[in-house]
Amino acid sequence: MKFLTTLTLGASLLVGTTAMAQDHIMRLSHGENENNPTHVMAAKFEELVEKYTDGRIDVQIFGSNQLGSEQEVAQSVRTGSIEAEILYTGNLVPLAPSIGVMMLPYAFTSTQEAHAAMDALQDPLNERLPGEAGVRVLGYLEKGFRVLTNSEREVRNIEDLQGLKIRVSKNNIAIETFRSWGLDPIPMAWAEVFPALQQGVIDGQENPYTTAVSMKFNEVQSYISEIHYLIWSGPLIVSERWYQGLDADLQEALNKAGREAAAFGRDNSASETEVAKKALVEMGMTLSGAPEDEAKWQEAARALWPSFAEEIGGEEWVTEASSIIAEATADLSN
Ligand code: MLT
Repeated sequence: MKFLTTLTLGASLLVGTTAMAQDHIMRLSHGENENNPTHVMAAKFEELVEKYTDGRIDVQIFGSNQLGSEQEVAQSVRTGSIEAEILYTGNLVPLAPSIGVMMLPYAFTSTQEAHAAMDALQDPLNERLPGEAGVRVLGYLEKGFRVLTNSEREVRNIEDLQGLKIRVSKNNIAIETFRSWGLDPIPMAWAEVFPALQQGVIDGQENPYTTAVSMKFNEVQSYISEIHYLIWSGPLIVSERWYQGLDADLQEALNKAGREAAAFGRDNSASETEVAKKALVEMGMTLSGAPEDEAKWQEAARALWPSFAEEIGGEEWVTEASSIIAEATADLSN
């Protein structure tokens, strides 16, 4: 962000006698602090957009849920009152069901598979999401598997899990998945999680290693289990209404910057995930690895897939998306 003294939308800004090249403000919201790969991607996007548009679009980043919770901001992006957001897919799916195809438990076994799926789905999703949710995807970030942390005990098997008060993101797929393991999870906005852990309202949560470090969860959590049920994926979405008001060259610049920033964010996440895991153990957290009865967890959660079809865009879309994903990941599973 350069030379900003006044908000201006759709018109050049004159400050004194100096003509500014900037034509558009693009507020980009996210829910993390500056140490998280989400912010790293946002900062790269800002740099690239300003470069590719010669400063005609001025990206302004608002992190740490300053503009509202991830789900609230998604509604504002839909109406165009906020231009853009990077958010967890699980927090977009109530507004944009079709993107829920990235949320099926145990669908991906590696980040490479998730990347192939996200990249192959981006254009088909952009055929659906503008009508469904008033947004389009410019790039898709991935931050590794969500790991389970809690303050009470090591979770080495499904019995250890019973009775824990675990927060999940506010979407039915997460809720039903945890129910399939015998829990009654607590859906809660991301912005409320740290204080809830601090006050003992919840015992645990699940998010990537990098998030556990950037949020300093080691101060309020003692145990980590690698439950592998879901890879954190999160789109950079832009308001369709705002995007359609831009010149074609600016739209192209955003498309290019979005994909490149996502690739940069994924690389950053891959290296930081290892660093974060080591740091959490050094700071005293107990790492239990994968549950010894992981097959049981998988079986219970995967059995739910057919019941999710309606809330992730319907049978026809699920069939189409599944074949896109299968084709994109075929070489990786051979
Ligand atoms: C959540 O658990 O709500 C999200 O994973 C938070 C985030 O966007 O990182």
